[in-house]
Amino acid sequence: MEKKSGFSSRLGFVLAAAGSAVGLGNIWRFPYLAAKYGGGIFLLVYLILAVTFGFALMITEIAIGRKTGKSTISAYCMIDKRFSFLGYLASLVPIIIFPYYCVIGGWVVKFLGVYASGQGHAATAEDYFSNFIGSSAGPLVCLAIFLFLTSLVVMLGVEKGIEKVSKFLMPVLILMSVGTAIYSLTLDGAMEGLVYYIKPNFSEFSIKTIVAAMGQLFYSMSLAMGIMVTYGSYMRKEDDLEKSVRNIEIFDTLIAFLSGMMIVPAVFAFSGGNKDALNKGPTLMFVTLPDVFDSMKGGHIFGLIFFLLVLFAALTSAISLMETIVSIISDKFGFGRKKICIGVMIFSFIIAIPSSLGFGVLSHITIFGYSILDFFDFISNNIMMPVVALITAILIGFIVKPKFVSDEVESSGKFKSKKMFEVIIKYVVPVCMLIILISSLAGYV
Ligand code: PHE
Repeated sequence: MEKKSGFSSRLGFVLAAAGSAVGLGNIWRFPYLAAKYGGGIFLLVYLILAVTFGFALMITEIAIGRKTGKSTISAYCMIDKRFSFLGYLASLVPIIIFPYYCVIGGWVVKFLGVYASGQGHAATAEDYFSNFIGSSAGPLVCLAIFLFLTSLVVMLGVEKGIEKVSKFLMPVLILMSVGTAIYSLTLDGAMEGLVYYIKPNFSEFSIKTIVAAMGQLFYSMSLAMGIMVTYGSYMRKEDDLEKSVRNIEIFDTLIAFLSGMMIVPAVFAFSGGNKDALNKGPTLMFVTLPDVFDSMKGGHIFGLIFFLLVLFAALTSAISLMETIVSIISDKFGFGRKKICIGVMIFSFIIAIPSSLGFGVLSHITIFGYSILDFFDFISNNIMMPVVALITAILIGFIVKPKFVSDEVESSGKFKSKKMFEVIIKYVVPVCMLIILISSLAGYV
């Protein structure tokens, strides 16, 4: 058999997988969820879920990938022919997410351009963001730039492209996050924000806190869409699996935590402690933050670094999405990587056009009340991903048995959390997934 190219070291694998996990979800979604759902108590719940439920799902996917050495479709088919539909379902998720993720990546490119050209003040104009995403050509050009950059890295391959880029970008990301968080804490009034972010506020704790933390964790770790299966298939057989998963989790959680440290205190300082400024949901990053940067001394540099950081995070996530699609096609049809990359790039651009125009000329089109982009987001995150995780947990927990995963983990090291893993994959994951599914369908969160 032809030798499959892969990551050259454990560090390379960990950084690439962490690059996939660390994305817009960490930087923009985590801080506002934490602020909304009780600060410290949300952090605590998130942490407990990460080391149990998140851990079990991630190690399962990576073990499936490494054991079979295949991309998603072929991997599930190899485990059990009756479950090949699961491979198809899981593969559909990145195909749906990738185009619209690039649309958002394009918005980040735009804002980076704004700060790089010293026009940060312009971005504070009322409706600047909505006017931009409501236009046609601008967002499409930015989308094309983001998509092109992503494709370039994937085209270079796993070791020469993905691993190299991750090894450079991820440490830089940590440095930038620590630096900006420290600066943010020195602003007048920031301490109050820090306390609000970290101190547990039990009055805001409810079952919603747990459901929100669960949903966030799941998305943040790039689970249930074949990404970790694909990256697992490129992992070296001799590298310690459990340790690697722990490293990826720490990386992902650390960046999420640090993002809160840069955003929450800065917003507090800007708004004089008005918490409503944080509750802006999705527009926090593109509307509130430019105002915050504009009010700060050196805010334009801060803004520039911030959007560069967001771009790096978004790029490494998009790369993992595209690689997953490319590996599926390559496994199935055996075309060359370059050809596939160009094909996927063009196809994804075309599919992304409606999502991009959905805020402008196509804004009259809504599906179940959602804009086109939000609809894709809802279908993939709230419905398909929990379904994939649920069926995966059933397959591993009850059909092939958790030993399937444990054997793979133990082939390259100790599996310290084996007992915990078995219980979680059999019982906890299915229950959690059902709760997420039901609450999404009921519009609970
Ligand atoms: N894990 C990424 C984040 O936290 C999101 C993501 C989802 C990335 C799907 C790739 C694929 O933002």
